[in-house]
Amino acid sequence: MDLTRERISRRLGSRPFQFYESVDSTQDIGANWLKQGAQPGSVVIADEQRKGRGRLGRTWHTPPGVAIALSVILKPDVRALPQVMMLGALVISETLETVGAEDVRIKWPNDVLLKGKKVSGVLPEAQWQGNQFLGVVLGMGINVRVDFRGTDVEQTAISIESALHDLERDEFVVRVLGWTDYWSGFLGSDVLFQAWKSRLVTLGQRVTIDEITGIAQDVQADGSLSVLDDSGEVHHIIAGDII
Ligand code: BTN
Repeated sequence: MDLTRERISRRLGSRPFQFYESVDSTQDIGANWLKQGAQPGSVVIADEQRKGRGRLGRTWHTPPGVAIALSVILKPDVRALPQVMMLGALVISETLETVGAEDVRIKWPNDVLLKGKKVSGVLPEAQWQGNQFLGVVLGMGINVRVDFRGTDVEQTAISIESALHDLERDEFVVRVLGWTDYWSGFLGSDVLFQAWKSRLVTLGQRVTIDEITGIAQDVQADGSLSVLDDSGEVHHIIAGDII
């Protein structure tokens, strides 16, 4: 079913939202809204993104009618910033599970995997005015029924619909926002960190990140990953992509 402003409006009640049929990136709209004083919990939703952004400068595809792109504005304590990306991955994982998906895990740092393939990506972008912290725009992109056959990510990407049929996107959005509200109350706490850590598929695996290859041993409260390389040295990796 179509994702429309009317449907979203009916489902979101009093939550401030902006809906776009097509937009460059919901992150940009969210960042501007935050600068203009948006309340925490405000959300930007789009049916299509023309210039969706992924982590590490990548592009994120949100074709019309088959995906979910949303950016939620959060205003945590600045010390809780590293946990916002944990929150995003946790929220998507729990939403998927509560609609019946099985085999949902998190690949460090914040890729949500369904049956071992990426179904969702999370992009937290902190906003500052000078040295004043304004808040975070937490972007979440979910593949609902994107057809990856014949694309270069055919082997690594998946859509929810491979596990669940007839999933209404507005229903999913409502659930994502509900879990976002719930976990926002735990930002900065060990509870959130442990919940994220317990879902990580990465721990114990042999990984390669940039130039480093070794066993992923542990994660720290700031989200960094410790990797024990073959020479016995431990590396603390703050950001990167596991291959
Ligand atoms: C990743 O690289 O895994 C993160 C992808 C994040 C995509 C979402 S879709 C909604 C929001 N708007 C964007 O331009 N990016 C994020």
